[in-house]
This record gives sequence, structure tokens and C-alpha cells, in this order.
Amino acid sequence: MISRLMTSLHAPIYQHRLEVLVAQLGPYLRATDRVLDVGCGNGNLGRALMGAVPGLVVEGLERVPRGGEPIKVHGYDGVTMPLERGAYDVVIVADVLHHERDPERLLRECARVASRLVIIKDHKVAGWFSAARVRLMDWAANAPYGVPCLFRYNTLAQWRAVPARLNAGLEREWTSLDLYPGLWNPVFGRGLQYMAVLRTDQSSAGGGADGRAGVSAGR
Ligand SMILES: C[S@@+](CC[C@H](N)C(=O)[O-])C[C@H]1O[C@@H](n2cnc3c(N)ncnc32)[C@H](O)[C@@H]1O
Repeated sequence: MISRLMTSLHAPIYQHRLEVLVAQLGPYLRATDRVLDVGCGNGNLGRALMGAVPGLVVEGLERVPRGGEPIKVHGYDGVTMPLERGAYDVVIVADVLHHERDPERLLRECARVASRLVIIKDHKVAGWFSAARVRLMDWAANAPYGVPCLFRYNTLAQWRAVPARLNAGLEREWTSLDLYPGLWNPVFGRGLQYMAVLRTDQSSAGGGADGRAGVSAGR
């Protein structure tokens, strides 16, 4: 009963999140790309991206496949991806790393499998109050689906250390995202969100369209 109520409250918020993610990430994806959505969950992000970028193929890789997803989903042990180096053009890992006990290992696997880009979407904390809000949001969004929460989140400095460790370049970074509708956004969106597009070492170096990495705060 409570779980059904939380799911129906969450639905319009989740839909808005999908629309924002598609609008922000679409420009980084090519019609010829094969994309792996690691920890794809219900697969709706992959389906929405395919709808926005005709020709794009998105497949999922999940530790716990749910069944009935609108994209092709491969199951695996959550540790070693059964894939060759550079098997996909782009790997997306959206709100997965903070559910993973060894996020470093998962990131390294993402970078190994992506020949061009790794896209990270996750949460970001700065101080006690923001951590409390992220924990509440994380629990409310995942409890109805039985996804365990570890309640561990990176700071901006921790996110910014990631590209160097992966030997990747930073193509674009969002330090704030207007991810949710209405009043949900100032409370749970904005600075509690983090997203980055990384160029892997298997892709040619040299920044975005203007040759410089972009950083932005906001949608
Ligand atoms: C909060 S959901 C995010 C779902 C989806 N990415 C989205 O943005 O809507 C986190 C998902 O990550 C999955 N997951 C956690 N650790 C994983 C791992 N090491 N490899 C693949 N999936 C993992 C969980 O099973 C869960 O479905």
C-alpha cells in the first residue's frame, strides 16, 4: 500500500528527470552509437534516448535484471563485465555508483568497455544537510523497487578526481541540475545532482565542439 503510494508519487518526478537527462545527454550521442546503460534498472532511460536520437541503440547491463524492460538487457555478476575492451561506443552509469560497494571497480569496468564516452550521473553532497536530503531522496526513490541503498555519496572534489584516475578527459560537467519538477527541484535537485561526460583513453583527445571542456551549473 505505502509502496504503491510512493511509486505513484514518484512517477511524474521520474518522468521529468528522464526528460531533463535526455535533453542534456542527447547532444553527446551519435545516431551510429551503440550505448551500454550499466545498471539500467527499468530501462526507461535507454528507451527515451533511443526515441530522441534516431538510429541510436541502447542496451542495458544489470546486476539484477527486472524483466519486461523496453530495451535489451544483459544480466551479469555486477563485478566483471563479460565484454571486450571498447565493446560499446558509450557507457552510461546513471544513479548506480552510489549503490555499488566498490564504485571504483565499476567505473574502471565502464571505462574499459566504452570506446568513446563514459557518462556519469549521480548525487553530490556538501555538508550534513545536503547529505540528509540526498539520503531521503535515495531511499524514497529506491525502496519501492527493492534497490538497496548504501547512503554513501561523493563530494564535488571526489567527482573531480575521477577522470584522472580513469585516464579519461572531461568533456562536460554539470555541478547542478534542474532535474525535478516544481518545488521538488530546490529541495532535491540542483546542487545535489552531478553529471559528467568523460572521454575515454580509447577515443581521440581534444574537448567538445569548441575544443574546450565545458562546466555548467543548471539545466
Ligand atoms: C537507482 S537504480 C538506477 C536505474 C537507472 N540507471 C536509472 O537511472 O533510472 C540503480 C540500479 O543499479 C543496479 N546496480 C547496482 N550495482 C550494479 C552493478 N555493479 N552493475 C550493474 N548494475 C548495478 C541496481 O540493480 C539498480 O537497478
